[in-house]
Amino acid sequence: MGRLRDGRAIFVPYALAGERVLAEITAEKAHHVWGQLLQVLEPSPQRIAPRCPHFGECGGCHYQHLPYAEQVPLKARLLTEQLQRIGGFRELPSIKIHPSPAAWHYRNSLQFHLTPQGKLGFQRAQSHQTIPIQQCFLPLPPLVDLWQQIELDPAAGIERIELRCDSAENLLLILESDRLETPEVLVEELPLSVVHLSPAGSVVIAGSEYLWMEVQGQGLRLSAGSFFQVNTAVAEQIVDYLLEHLYLSPNDTLLDIYCGGGLYSLFLAPKVGRLIGIENSPFACRDFEFNLDEFEHVELYEATAEQVLPQLDLRPQTVLLDPPRSGLSKTVRQALLGLAPPQIAYISCDPATFARDARHFAQNGYCLEHLAFFDMFPQTYAIESVGIWRLD
Ligand SMILES: C[S@@+](CC[C@H](N)C(=O)[O-])C[C@H]1O[C@@H](n2cnc3c(N)ncnc32)[C@H](O)[C@@H]1O
Repeated sequence: MGRLRDGRAIFVPYALAGERVLAEITAEKAHHVWGQLLQVLEPSPQRIAPRCPHFGECGGCHYQHLPYAEQVPLKARLLTEQLQRIGGFRELPSIKIHPSPAAWHYRNSLQFHLTPQGKLGFQRAQSHQTIPIQQCFLPLPPLVDLWQQIELDPAAGIERIELRCDSAENLLLILESDRLETPEVLVEELPLSVVHLSPAGSVVIAGSEYLWMEVQGQGLRLSAGSFFQVNTAVAEQIVDYLLEHLYLSPNDTLLDIYCGGGLYSLFLAPKVGRLIGIENSPFACRDFEFNLDEFEHVELYEATAEQVLPQLDLRPQTVLLDPPRSGLSKTVRQALLGLAPPQIAYISCDPATFARDARHFAQNGYCLEHLAFFDMFPQTYAIESVGIWRLD
């Protein structure tokens, strides 16, 4: 971010702090403008050559021109700034920073779009155009070896394509479409399972519908339609962090809202007397039931948090929240105040909505006691954070 002579902020993607650059203004708003980087006139001493030939053209990575050791404190600073600016915090607890154990080849899943030729590609930065990709340094090695070999019929109506790799290196290709008919896909030569997801549900085209993720030595079943954290090693760090910083007792009730297939519940359930999950994806709910089957004191609501929370008549000691990027809806925020849990843990993948919701907690008597940044997505601007609040 820089300033124009008239005082307006200018945002120039791929420029670094302290650099002098030539930029073309691409969009003007009342208080800020966007610019496209044309030339770096005086580079920052931190600037390095990006590793990937597609960097800058492909929209997947944003920070390859900065050494990994510099990306981590930069993102922690951005999180702090959002909490100050949007959240209104003057004072924050010292932020605990957790870099990713791997700066490259960390992703256990990748999402693609189809080029008109039926090749897997990524979207061009700030555009919906799909560009063919020859190289990507983010996925786990088994995915790198595979995706170049996949070719699909561009006329088959496939809207979203995802490749996933589990802890035993089993591979799953997920084809998603609004059309109900299952597309014909020839993958006999390739060592992978294929599942079609549509509004009618899931159809296994080849192999198995499930992958098996290992987290802290515990196995979790993962369906094609369920969410899973993309960086398994960092998900393990978050599990450790929760276990270390939450007060949990065998008499407690814990609510795991947006619980997915039960990643965090699996580790928290043995510490509490009652655990209630809330999740709206039927695929994730089936996985949750499977993964938490051994526990008698675990219940699950298959519905939205907005439907369940206002109806709940209980006093949980701890609420764990892990919402999508949009954060908490007004209904969820209001219902949480009614439940008045003494302890809230909030896992977020978007610092702006995290800061907005943090402001709400602070205005309603909660004190932010612990704050942590986890670099779930190296080379990108995405920021994963965890806050732990206690009712004053
Ligand atoms: C960021 S994921 C977290 C999942 C899980 N905690 C994990 O780490 O694997 C968010 C989850 O919330 C679910 N979800 C999205 N909107 C929801 C809502 N309004 N009510 C309940 N669950 C919702 C999604 O299906 C998804 O499983």
